[in-house]
Amino acid sequence: MNFLEKKICDEGIVLSPSVLKVDSFLNHQIDPELMLQIGTEFADRFKNEGITKIVTIESSGIAPAVFAGLKLSVPIVFARKKKSLTLTDGLLTSSVYSFTKQEQNEISVAKKFIQPGDRVLIIDDFLAHGEAALGLAELVDQAHATIAGFGIVIEKSFQVGRQKLEDQGYRVESIARIKEMDTKGITFILSEVM
Ligand code: G4P
Ligand code: NA
Ligand code: NA
Repeated sequence: MNFLEKKICDEGIVLSPSVLKVDSFLNHQIDPELMLQIGTEFADRFKNEGITKIVTIESSGIAPAVFAGLKLSVPIVFARKKKSLTLTDGLLTSSVYSFTKQEQNEISVAKKFIQPGDRVLIIDDFLAHGEAALGLAELVDQAHATIAGFGIVIEKSFQVGRQKLEDQGYRVESIARIKEMDTKGITFILSEVM
């Protein structure tokens, strides 16, 4: 098992065969040492891609994205889920469907922070149905920047997100890939990282 798989086994709570609670290190309380390790791993996997910017989405994508940005020496932009008071002009927006809330939500970034010519690494905490990931990809496309790939902290491989991204030709790098889970345990798709 790699460092993240161990952490998930130690602290993750399987709420149902499709929902994993990891609020002790990723979604509520944040483990900074672990985030540094995750960011370092993303940076290593994408180090030859000429990344100029990292794009993520608030809130749980930000922590791993910041450490990847630190290691790659590039800025991080996070898409907002709510319209900001001061951020109103020059917005790129896309629509993301939430399966859990069964509603369509707008996400946005300021145009000035993603430039044509940028090579973007998109980072998120979970990859499930791929809706958020595709919404972020759409923002980067609207900016006429290039998507170098996706860095995902926890991929639920039994859901369709990875397949959707791969079908569009994107490279997907996930630190932990969950094949299946239930209250008795979690099975991972084996990885080479320790
Ligand atoms: P989904 O149905 O494809 O999972 O998408 P949905 O929009 O419903 O996801 C809602 C939130 O739940 C997202 O975070 C997503 O990252 C997260 N998520 C999806 N699957 C899991 C899971 O198994 N465990 C946990 N802990 N989270 C999951 P969000 O609402 O944007 O929250 P945040 O980024 O502010 O934390
Ligand atoms: Na989340
Ligand atoms: Na997220």
